[in-house]
Amino acid sequence: MEKDTLILAIESSCDETAAAVVKNGREVLSNVISSQIDLHTLFGGVVPEIASRKHIEKINQVIEQAMSDAKVDWDDLSAIGVTYGPGLVGALLVGVAEAKAIAYARKLPLIGVHHIEGHVSANFIEHKDLEPPFLCLIVSGGHTHLVIMKDYGEFEILGRTRDDAAGEAFDKVARAIGLGYPGGPKIDKLSKEGNPHAITFPKAKVDGSPYDFSFSGIKSAVLNYINQNKMQNKEINDADLAASFQQAVVEVLSDHAVKAAKEYGYNKVVLAGGVASNSALRAQFKKDCEKNGLEFYYPSPILCTDNAAMIGAAAYYEYKKGVRSGWDLNAIPNLKLGER
Ligand code: KG4
Ligand code: ZN
Repeated sequence: MEKDTLILAIESSCDETAAAVVKNGREVLSNVISSQIDLHTLFGGVVPEIASRKHIEKINQVIEQAMSDAKVDWDDLSAIGVTYGPGLVGALLVGVAEAKAIAYARKLPLIGVHHIEGHVSANFIEHKDLEPPFLCLIVSGGHTHLVIMKDYGEFEILGRTRDDAAGEAFDKVARAIGLGYPGGPKIDKLSKEGNPHAITFPKAKVDGSPYDFSFSGIKSAVLNYINQNKMQNKEINDADLAASFQQAVVEVLSDHAVKAAKEYGYNKVVLAGGVASNSALRAQFKKDCEKNGLEFYYPSPILCTDNAAMIGAAAYYEYKKGVRSGWDLNAIPNLKLGER
């Protein structure tokens, strides 16, 4: 019988310090996440310097916890996987330096992982039968990409955002309503009490580019709506506002994904990234996929937002392909999807 592949994965690209042990790419033995959200909430967003310092403080503790939760020994490990981009450079460097040090000391292979490839791979953990090719929409705080995952580690990008990422739009609108950071989950919750058809907002589309997105128009429309109502001393129904904004965004995301799946002939549609935990987005995808005879996959909320288990899943398939990073592995803040 083939020996199990155990990967210790590290993720520190933004404001979560995370480590996980993943078996054969699909089974999570431990998944430890130390979130800095409370710290950054004070400033209304992630402060890069604070993020880096906090990663340094937490990383050893988080890794030790991941190893102990998984009940594995250092000698049991097959490789170390680590996010090396995209993300905040100082934050990424903490994880990359740590991963290199462990790999060097324990004589283990080192595998640099693309953060977005990690988000997509979160789906492999809970859907044991899911394999590429499929169509995938990645929606997070920093990214909005519509892609075909052709094979493990192989992507064709069909569309992307021209301005803000989907999560960024949620966060900015939440700030304008006064909900605080991070805004996505707060808009999601408040929207449940509102009417999604109360206000008509422009769609997040780009004329002439069927698979691109643009969120600046809808964001400005929300801000204008707030300002105009304030000037006229009219009371704003925050729940209706949140629900209407959310509805306009999720309709376009689902519409583009379903259209692309049909045009390119894929019958599986996959969601990934922090915004993939949005309840309205999941409901819209589910409805549209059912209507069009497409299978729909998405991860549990804990695997949607940043975590290291997803990095372990992605690292496994790179490991199997023989991909190894050298000691010169560096943090690449603007690493493109599909690039090495
Ligand atoms: O994937 P992630 O943890 O970090 C990045 O790689 O960017 O995504 C974080 C983003 C934030 O913008 C947050 O507001 C958004 O995901 N988010 C949500 C929800 N949960 C997290 N947006 C909408 N609805 C949610 N339930
Ligand atoms: Zn992320």
